[in-house]
Amino acid sequence: MEKKNIDWSNLGFGYIKTDKRFVSNYKDGIWSEGILTDDAEVTINECAGVLQYAQTVFEGMKAYTTEDGRIVIFRPDLNAARMADSARRLEMPVYPEENFVKAVEDVVRANAAWVPPYGSGATLYLRPYMFGTNPVIGVKPADEYQFRVFATPVGPYFKGGAKPLTLRVSDFDRAAPHGTGHIKAGLNYAMSLHAIVSAHEDGYDENMYLDASTRTKVEETGGANFIFVTHDNKVVTPKSDSILPSITRRSLMYVAKEYLGLECEEREVYMDEVKEFAECGLCGTAAVISPVGKIVDHGTEICMRAGMEKMGPVTQKLYDTLTGIQMGRIEAPEGWLHTVE
Ligand code: PLP
Ligand code: COI
Repeated sequence: MEKKNIDWSNLGFGYIKTDKRFVSNYKDGIWSEGILTDDAEVTINECAGVLQYAQTVFEGMKAYTTEDGRIVIFRPDLNAARMADSARRLEMPVYPEENFVKAVEDVVRANAAWVPPYGSGATLYLRPYMFGTNPVIGVKPADEYQFRVFATPVGPYFKGGAKPLTLRVSDFDRAAPHGTGHIKAGLNYAMSLHAIVSAHEDGYDENMYLDASTRTKVEETGGANFIFVTHDNKVVTPKSDSILPSITRRSLMYVAKEYLGLECEEREVYMDEVKEFAECGLCGTAAVISPVGKIVDHGTEICMRAGMEKMGPVTQKLYDTLTGIQMGRIEAPEGWLHTVE
């Protein structure tokens, strides 16, 4: 199979239309078997549940070419389970988890020419999603849904690759206590758009959101969880019911403990203690681990020890080990790499 003629190493994080996508429809309580199609357009009724009341959930995951030339998907079972949780919270039918993994695998196989080569720095980003399709005008869940998966080759999420980011503490909240912050629903991202546009206008790369009820604890950014490293090399990550349970963060905590022998803590992290940490990073499928150099809290600057030029040493080790596992250079824990045959 010949790869597409793309300048893989200079890809940004954007949409490129690939050859095939998967579509399955839900009607009368049953999901259709689903097909791979060339058609990238979606046609739905003007009153569809997703258009009126934002009934949509999604996932983000990646396929990689390993050092030995296999194509692998990273922990797709966890994305399938999280999408099921997201669907339940928005009163949507669950797309069966096994079928989810199979659909993602089918899309990767059908777009193998688009999976970036090993060592290019790019990956194939996969976007499973589902939405209410039939007309809904009273506020209630739709009866009919569509589940789709498309693929697009991507480079780094943040421009500048591994250059440390500058964040600001946002005046907006991302998620309410007992709200939807813990699921991957489109509505969580729609409400963050004003905050991210104004952060960019003011020269910041991202927002650091605090807990909505006390505004004293670190939550996450618009698209990634936080990890911090203490001066004595302990890895700390915020615990909260209103952040997305990041698969990258859960994987990193395992890597820190089991591969690097570091002490790890998942606990509430107070904004007041952020200045005590030595390193800070954003972690997620798109973000991988992106180092944070500076956090600005209403005029007060918190500068991380590693500075604005490179990743801190522990962040770098975490990054090298996780990406080493994903690219097949380091042996993966059982079940983490799903090979596409
Ligand atoms: N938090 C938010 C709000 C996200 O959108 C994402 C991206 O998926 C993450 C965290 C990271 O999650 P994961 O590591 O599962 O991609
Ligand atoms: C991901 O990391 O997969 C996400 O969905 C985050 C999004 C901001 C691109």
